[in-house]
This record gives sequence, C-alpha cells and structure tokens, in this order.
Amino acid sequence: MSARTLLVDVHTHLYLPRYASLLRSRASVPMIRSRADGDRLIILDNEPSGGRPVGSQYWDRDQKLAFMDKHGIDISIVSTANPWLDFLSVSEATSMANSLNQDLEEYCSSGPSFSPTLQRLYGMGLLPLVPSISVPTILDEVDHVAQLPHLRGVIMGTRGIGKGLDDDALEPVWSKISDKGLVIFLHPHYGVSSSDVWGEKDNGHVLPLALGFPFETTVATTRMILAGVFDRHPSLKILLAHSGGALPILSSRLASCITHDPVVASRLQHDARWYLGKLYYDAVAYGAEELGFVSSTIGRAGKYGTPTTEAVAGSSHMTFGTDHPFFPPILDAVKQDSKWMSVVENLKAIDGVRDWSEAEKSAVRGQNALKLFGLN
Ligand code: URA
Ligand code: ZN
Repeated sequence: MSARTLLVDVHTHLYLPRYASLLRSRASVPMIRSRADGDRLIILDNEPSGGRPVGSQYWDRDQKLAFMDKHGIDISIVSTANPWLDFLSVSEATSMANSLNQDLEEYCSSGPSFSPTLQRLYGMGLLPLVPSISVPTILDEVDHVAQLPHLRGVIMGTRGIGKGLDDDALEPVWSKISDKGLVIFLHPHYGVSSSDVWGEKDNGHVLPLALGFPFETTVATTRMILAGVFDRHPSLKILLAHSGGALPILSSRLASCITHDPVVASRLQHDARWYLGKLYYDAVAYGAEELGFVSSTIGRAGKYGTPTTEAVAGSSHMTFGTDHPFFPPILDAVKQDSKWMSVVENLKAIDGVRDWSEAEKSAVRGQNALKLFGLN
C-alpha cells in the first residue's frame, strides 16, 4: 500500500432507527424478523437462507465510525440501504422521506469533524419514488434535500415511480436534481427478474448479489441513455453502484446494436460509448483488472464526442466504496479484530491498477469523491 492519503467512502449504507423500526413493524418483505439466534433482514423476494443477520451495525453511528477508524476511512457519504421507500404508499413515502432526510442531516451534522471545514459524515437522502405520487411532491423533497447542508445527493433504485428511470414523467425530477447540483447514487435492489434464471440449487445470495444486482444497474442506465436523459440533462451527476455493473464491457455492443436498429439509430445525439464519460462509478469491483477496464472505457468516451470534447481521465470518474455494513467477515474470530476483506480487497484493487499513476490512485481513494460531492 502506498503512502496514506485521504480515504472517502461513497458506498456505505445505514438503516436509520426510524427506518429499522418500520422494517420491524412489518409482517411481509421487506422486514426485520426477530429470531432466537438474532434478527434477520429479509429484503429480497424469495430471500435465500432465511435472510441475513442484521444488528446495530446498520443503525448505530458509533459502529459506523468504529468501522471507518478501523479501515482508515476519513469521510463517509452514507445512504439508506435498499429497498428505500419503494414499498410504501404515497402518503407514507412522502412523510418518511421528509423525516428520514431530516434524521440523516442530524446523524451527519452532530457527528465528528474531520477538519475545520469538513465533517466525517455526509449523506445522500431519499425521494418518495412510488407509483401514483405527484411529481411536484417529489420536487418538494428534492428542494428539502438540497437545503440540508450535509446531504449532497439522493440514493435511488431503478423503478422510478413504477415505469423505470426512462419514464418521461421524471423529466422535471432530473432537471431539478441537476439544477441543485445533487448527485444521484443509482443502486440496485431487484436484480434480474424471476427465480428460473437462478436455477434450483441453493447458492445462498451469490447469484442475485454478484450478477442480478449489477445487471439491474446496467439495464436501468442503458434505458436512461436510450431515452436521451443525458442528452437533455448534460449536467446530471449519476454515480453507478458496483462500477457500473456490466455497462463498460457491453458498451461497444450497445453502440453497435443502436447503430443497427432503425427504432433508435437516429434518436441519440452521441454514440453510446460517449455517455459512459458522463457517468461516475464507484470502485466497488474487488479487482484491479476490472477497475482498469472500467477506467479505460470511461477514458475513451471523448473519442466518440465532437472534436472539441474535453478528454476525461477515466480514473477521475471513479471513487472508493465499501458497501458497509453488507459483506462483513463471516468467521467470528475474524470479526473480532481484523479488517474486513470486502474493504481490503477494494483498496488493494485500487492500488493494483497498472495504468493508474500514484496521483490517480490517490484521487480515486479520496479527492474524486470530494469533487463529485462538492466538498472541496
Ligand atoms: N446486499 C444488499 O441488499 N444491498 C447492498 O447494498 C449490498 C448487498
Ligand atoms: Zn450497496
């Protein structure tokens, strides 16, 4: 590992106490179920293995800070974990979004400082994105988030208000988020549909998490590209979970399919690969080769722009993340004192990218996030 530099975690979750109580009060998914051997988080459809263990690491701020200290993380930009408010009615989602955003502001602002000008905790809020909501209600919550000083963006899933993120009804939402300079953290929850894709063997959470999650992000982002969202909202800042899933490896195939399809060939202002340079990617890929590959597909985006398009260093759009408190060490002995493998591997991956200079690696660990979230 090279010399110690600023470390900022952009992919780190929590369930605020108000949200955890809501999950506890429910008798259907998503829910927290009490069991004699500890509470279980049941949030996925057909949740494998009776759910995952859940405890105070999901809501206790001291535990978040202890995790940060253990791994040398200076600043975390925390976000509610899936499935956000997706399962609530319009009135429940509206009031929960408002209260949880206020709670998150308090969580961050009353936490410790990192420096005279920076806190250790910042957040991304929630919007009431549920079917049948009125768009002005969503816009009001964007305004609310924007005026909370420690909230720098919003986390959202891929369903929008029921028809996905390529829904024309969301146009005013993209405009307002863009005007306010908030970051959208696009995060999966639903995976790819239907259990027949995963077969009948018990593979625990491996298939939905390793493949379903990133593919969901890939589809959602591609649909936004195809709908021209990035043509109409060039300043929109979208951070893709899990390094953009399969989008980088499929982007030339996507470009070719568009070119050969009369339905969309003339619709977009740019080659599909160009849009990859407009997006931001967490560095939660667990391997140096993957990070290097993502970086090179971002970096070549300028080739597909106009001659005046500014070249972007791919690494400048990538930012360290952990996915805490998911992926804890599974052995009790390890849990006691050693570092989390999920963190160590992501740090090692950044350090191991062959084509990145030391300055680029350092920026991926910290400065890129400060810039993206307007913290510098
Ligand atoms: N599992 C989840 O349900 N969410 C995450 O963010 C990571 C793992
Ligand atoms: Zn996550």
